[in-house]
Amino acid sequence: MTASESPITRRREEGPALPDVSMHLHTPATPATGTVVSSVRCTRNKSSSYVRHVTIDVSGTKIAGTIRPGQSFGVIPPGLDPSGRPHKLRLYSIASPTRGEDGRGNVIATTVKRTIDEHWESHKLFLGVASNYLCDLQVGDAVTVTGPSGKRFIVPADADAHDYVFVATGTGIAPFRGMILDLLESNSSSRIALVMGVPYANDLLYDEALIELAAKHPNFSYITALSRERQPDGAPPMYVQNRLETHRELLGSILASDRGLIYICGLAGMELGIFQQLARTLPPPHLDAYLQVDADALGSIGAWERRMIHKQVRPTRRIFTEVY
Ligand code: A2P
Repeated sequence: MTASESPITRRREEGPALPDVSMHLHTPATPATGTVVSSVRCTRNKSSSYVRHVTIDVSGTKIAGTIRPGQSFGVIPPGLDPSGRPHKLRLYSIASPTRGEDGRGNVIATTVKRTIDEHWESHKLFLGVASNYLCDLQVGDAVTVTGPSGKRFIVPADADAHDYVFVATGTGIAPFRGMILDLLESNSSSRIALVMGVPYANDLLYDEALIELAAKHPNFSYITALSRERQPDGAPPMYVQNRLETHRELLGSILASDRGLIYICGLAGMELGIFQQLARTLPPPHLDAYLQVDADALGSIGAWERRMIHKQVRPTRRIFTEVY
């Protein structure tokens, strides 16, 4: 060990080995053309948000058969932006398992929420360009794609050597749909828990399919957190991080073992809340395996701020984060 390599530094650098993945096979300069195969809503009909599961045939492109859940692909909307330049590409998370939607990796999927808002000052309607373009696409339409991109937010090479707590808000579920299908279809004996947060029960994404998977696989638990209405069991509205407390037995036992990994995907704000809840619920030394917290910060968990992440509050390589 060199002088600069303290035991803490070494521990932070240890992490599961990740598989090699393909990257940038099609770039904005060399994009590919896919064809829309299907587009279905993935909420219940009464949801006030519009989220679609859009599947795209990429056969014949370099992307086919290469993309893994946790990676993204790019979409280049047609037309020009307000300054007259071609639209830039937007990244969308792959929602399909490695086998693709078709079993051969030729049809990829993503989970897209229409961005619909008001301009702050003029209060005129604002429609996100790429999300509404993707959601408007019809079966058979061509779409310009790039990718794959991303190599760190993926399941380890030796997937069975780990147990998983996946925590998603909203469309952050996309990579976890693919990862969970990959794990369960390989008959993995890993323990897998998915904690999914949305405003109302009607907004839950892939809900029926996830309930079915949990019924079929005793090693998979599907836990929801509704933020604006009571839970089905009457418990008050809550965020995903509250589930670390209400489901302490299950989630705590996954995290307390040497096999535990946490994957977080969704709104940027969720990261801090999850870290705070981990610090409250996980006894040291288990906490230390996920978060290394300065001694003075440990005494004031409620006062943590986002800017402290990676400074006074440092996730180890057993936490994987993709927030936006
Ligand atoms: P809320 O909007 O009630 O504050 P969606 O993308 O479908 O809107 O879902 C995002 C979910 O994440 C909502 O339930 C939202 O709750 C919740 N959320 C918002 N901020 C945080 C946060 N800081 N930590 C955890 N969950 C959050």
